[in-house]
Amino acid sequence: MNLTDEEKRMLDGEMGEGVRKAMDMLVAMGKAFDAPRMIPVTRTHVAMSGQEGDTYWCELLVNGGAACKIIPTTNPNWDVPTLNRRYEVPADRLFLARRTDDVYRRIGAAITYCCTPELAGNVPVFGEHVAFSESSATPYVNAVLGARSNRESSVSALASSVTGVTPYYGLHLDENRRGNMTVYVDTEVKGPYEWGLLGWFIGLHAGTNVPVILFNKKAYDVRPTPEELLYFTTESNTSGAMPMFHMPGITPEAPTAEAAFGGNKSASELRVTRADLEKMENLISDPAGKIHLVLIGCPHYTYAQLRGVADLINDRRIHPDVDFWILSSWDAIELARRSGHLETIERSGIRVVPDTCMDQPPFDQFKGKLNMTDSAKCAHYQKRRGLPFVLRRIEECIDAAVKSSV
Ligand code: F3S
Repeated sequence: MNLTDEEKRMLDGEMGEGVRKAMDMLVAMGKAFDAPRMIPVTRTHVAMSGQEGDTYWCELLVNGGAACKIIPTTNPNWDVPTLNRRYEVPADRLFLARRTDDVYRRIGAAITYCCTPELAGNVPVFGEHVAFSESSATPYVNAVLGARSNRESSVSALASSVTGVTPYYGLHLDENRRGNMTVYVDTEVKGPYEWGLLGWFIGLHAGTNVPVILFNKKAYDVRPTPEELLYFTTESNTSGAMPMFHMPGITPEAPTAEAAFGGNKSASELRVTRADLEKMENLISDPAGKIHLVLIGCPHYTYAQLRGVADLINDRRIHPDVDFWILSSWDAIELARRSGHLETIERSGIRVVPDTCMDQPPFDQFKGKLNMTDSAKCAHYQKRRGLPFVLRRIEECIDAAVKSSV
């Protein structure tokens, strides 16, 4: 790789061992992907989520004297004061949460603890080169906002935060952003839940292609909301690895289908019907039964979604046998509090918590018990860890929480 003098000095250790390690990793990555050089980044997001390997990597860098040049936003860890009061967490997991909190502060990260930085807090503009990790964030910034990021890990995104650069390959280049697969959606898709199922289905089939998604010959009539696109990107980049797509007339690099392909031929076609979406729900969901936990907000619920929950629950109370948590960002929760919706939600027995990922130790209490969510990603990950989940839209989750069964 051709490195600038400053990049060579970083690699030679002139700026400390932490910076050297970060640059060494990025150079290795660049060589693996045949990147000719590095490119400066102006934003980063680190999807650390309180995982031990990520915390260890951050410690290696910061203990070697590194600090962030580009201030990254951070994925959720978990809200220790709130959740540890209610659930017993093993000492080693508690220690990891505190270690994580400490080390990301020391390296100079913005402690946002939110997995939707692309909606608020770290929103790139069209054409900006960035290094984002997190399943929704990477496709959202690429396809919906027109910024440029590869599908980074928390490790590589932190290395870019420290060095200010990323290898110049993949989705930083025009030619890799063009469509090469056609998806025809032959059914109406409504609400974040259905957009999530659509994303899951396309992600399963897209492989490494860049799909151009056409909606039942009415592409220009479909106007997804940020929440619908958020669920779509989360699920397509969880069932598969789909960091880029086009929706002609909707996403900024696709004013037309022809522009989305940019001269490429469509190598494959996929059709999506209503039956395919229903199949996805059945594939991911566990069978119905008595519910113990309802866990929503994976990805973090927005203010509009919190408001929607307040309208849905209205004056009802959830069943005393059910724990119901909504994971959200601190700013969305504050807005809901100021606007009076948080009070309505909490009066029902539903709890709203910031800074928290569903994949964290407090929820291990529900291993082996049947639970419920509106997020395919949550159901999929938790099932692999021994927590069965029924997958349904939010309206059904609330109804089930009132009755304690679905
Ligand atoms: Fe967010 Fe954790 Fe889900 S980071 S998207 S709540 S897996």
